[in-house]
Order: sequence, then C-alpha cells, then structure tokens
Amino acid sequence: MDLSRRQLGTLVGAAFLAPQLTARPATAATVAAPAWKLMWSPAARVDGMRAFETIEDDRADSHPAGQPHIFPEGDNFRFNMHMVDRDTSTDRQRQEVTGNRTPAGFLQWLNGETWRLTYSMYIPSTLKATTSFTHIMQTKMPGTGTDPITVTSLRRVDGAQTIEHKVFEQDILVGRTALTPLHNKWIDIEYEMKIGDGSTGSVRWVVRSGGTTVVDATRTGVDTFLGDRVRPKWGIYRSLGDVSGSLQDCHLLLTNLRAYKLVQATGTRLEAENATISQGAVESNHAGYSGTGFVNTDNVAGAYVQWGFAAAAAGSATLTFRYANGTTATRPVAVAVNGATTNVDFPATGAWSTWQSRSITVPLVAGANTIRATATTAGGCPNFDYLEILV
Ligand code: GCU
Ligand code: CA
Repeated sequence: MDLSRRQLGTLVGAAFLAPQLTARPATAATVAAPAWKLMWSPAARVDGMRAFETIEDDRADSHPAGQPHIFPEGDNFRFNMHMVDRDTSTDRQRQEVTGNRTPAGFLQWLNGETWRLTYSMYIPSTLKATTSFTHIMQTKMPGTGTDPITVTSLRRVDGAQTIEHKVFEQDILVGRTALTPLHNKWIDIEYEMKIGDGSTGSVRWVVRSGGTTVVDATRTGVDTFLGDRVRPKWGIYRSLGDVSGSLQDCHLLLTNLRAYKLVQATGTRLEAENATISQGAVESNHAGYSGTGFVNTDNVAGAYVQWGFAAAAAGSATLTFRYANGTTATRPVAVAVNGATTNVDFPATGAWSTWQSRSITVPLVAGANTIRATATTAGGCPNFDYLEILV
C-alpha cells in the first residue's frame, strides 16, 4: 500500500484511539444491473504491438528508412508520419492500428451491443487540421472496401483548426471543438457506441482537457452497423490534398487504452448497516436508503466502513457505493481493496435524503476480499447506504 505521510499519520492516530469496531453478520442481496465490463487494457510497455488485431505500418512499404512508424515508446503508442510516407493509394498517407487483441482473442463488437473506449491522446501542434481528410480514429467493419462507420478527424472549418467526430456515411456531426487549445497536451477521450443498424445506433464522444470537459456530445438514432462487426482504428490516415499548408512530419501518441462492454451483470449488494464500522453508527433518520438504514460515520479522518466479499474467481470488479452527502463539500474517501488504495471523491448530493452512486473498477482475488472505505479528511465519510459488487 502506498501511504502518504499524511494518510499514515491518520491511520496511526486512528489505531491509537482504538475505536470500537461494530461487526454484524454479513447478508447479501443479488441484483441485476447494467455494468461496464473491462475487456481490454493493454500496456504499451508490456504488450507492445500485440495490443492490436492488425497493424498497418507503412503497408505500401513506401519509406523503409522510417520503419517502424508505429511502436511502443515507454507507456505510449507512437505513430510517426513523414511527408514521404504513402499509402497504397498514393494520394494519401496511413499509419494505423486496428482492433483489440486480448490473450483470449480479438474483441468482437457485435450488432446490438454497446461498447466504451477510453484513452489519452497527445496531438502535437505538428499534426494539424487539414482541408481534406485527416482521420485519427475510426470505427470500421473489418475488410477493405467499406467506408468508415464513425471518424474522429482534424478538419479546417472556415480556416480554423478543429477536431470533430462524425457518423461517416450519414455525414452526421456528433461534436466539434477547436483543436489549437488541445495541441501539445494530453487530452482524455471517452467514446461510447451502441451498435445498431438503420436508426438504432447511438454515439457519444467526450473530450476532456486538464479536468475540463470540452465536448460531451451524443447522437442517437444513427446507423452504426454495416455488417459482420465493428472494429476501432487509431493512427494517422490523411489525404495529401490539403491546401492550407498544414502537412508536415508529425506524430500522435496514445496511452491508457481501455475497452469496456456494457453487460447485464449479476451484482451483490452489501448493505452498509451490515458492515464493520469504525467510528460511526447505523442510522435511519434520512429517507431513501435500502435495507434497514445507512451508516453515518463520525466526522473525523480515519472513520471507516469495511465490507468483506468472497469472490468465486480473481478478476476485475465494479464497486458501486450508494451514498448521500447533504453538505456542500466533497467528501474524499480512500477505498482500500485488499490494501490497495483508490481515492474516491463523494460530491454533494444536495440533501441527506438524496442518494447517488460512485463506481470504481478494481481487481479482486479469488476467495476473501476486504473493501475498506476510510475518510481522509475531518468531514468523515458521506453517509453510506450500500456497496454493490459486480463481477
Ligand atoms: C448530519 C446528518 C448526518 C450526517 C452528518 C455529517 O448530522 O444528519 O446523517 O452524517 O450531518 O455531516 O456527516
Ligand atoms: Ca457523518
């Protein structure tokens, strides 16, 4: 466990005070809920180019001296584009990777399913928006000869550099924002696609920069299925037809690539009132809780609620905390799963009787797991209603 000096002090202080522990018999209810299941999380440093299904690195062999154009660089995947690089169609350039490779095979994004991608991306100012196409992310049906399904592009609009996301065939703009403020920094992308034919698909495209959400745009009723399955692509695929003088040697960096599938998961609900409580009490004076009450911890750092959970197998799980915070200040909590800590903020919910949920994805071990939520500031924990575990 990585404890900061301040957290260590808190824990030592809490131990010194030797708070009374209140343990109750564990009871659990089974619930069904939609959940994002982590399906792919390659690490450039470990997995290298095995992260992807196919690699189109100078597939026309136009520039051997520049190969590889796509390679892991520390924790990042790097895509280099040189002015001399040519795709098989020589009016354009392409350095791209396709799909999601896992030890169990390639991910299959199928009609009717909903998928989410998250990743961080660094677009240097040398990778400019153009008057003809520059795509840096696409979804496609495998094989050649079909148009993209959706595209993220760097496009000149009235001369200005923009980044946009479109449903390609229907030419429906999902979202667009100025590119220049996003150059030369890491930005975070969240992308969701409900795969559906005709008008049954939907797309959500979110761009965040330095903690600020720059775009959060959704298009429903769109066509996101051509046939077979859907595959994401990343890299630089651009036309040489630009007339704005924007083409030059450039690159693109990606990291923290994740793919999640929306699944109907079976969850286990563990009521907080049945958990082990250190410096707190079970109460029921604010409505809307599930079970017989909720836990109100003392308003001190170090107060905690601890749950035990027996997992059938090791693997990633989604922990959802239902809570209320009737103050105006966020309550930060250290969630330790078998000792490994994730800091989770619990923002104000507006009232003590207004309950909301916060989720994190954590690894669980087979057999006994301990999940402890400890207040890290003098406000204590929010009121906890339950912890739900989706595996
Ligand atoms: C109020 C509220 C409690 C809550 C407490 C707090 O006293 O009734 O349920 O736990 O504020 O600030 O933590
Ligand atoms: Ca309290």
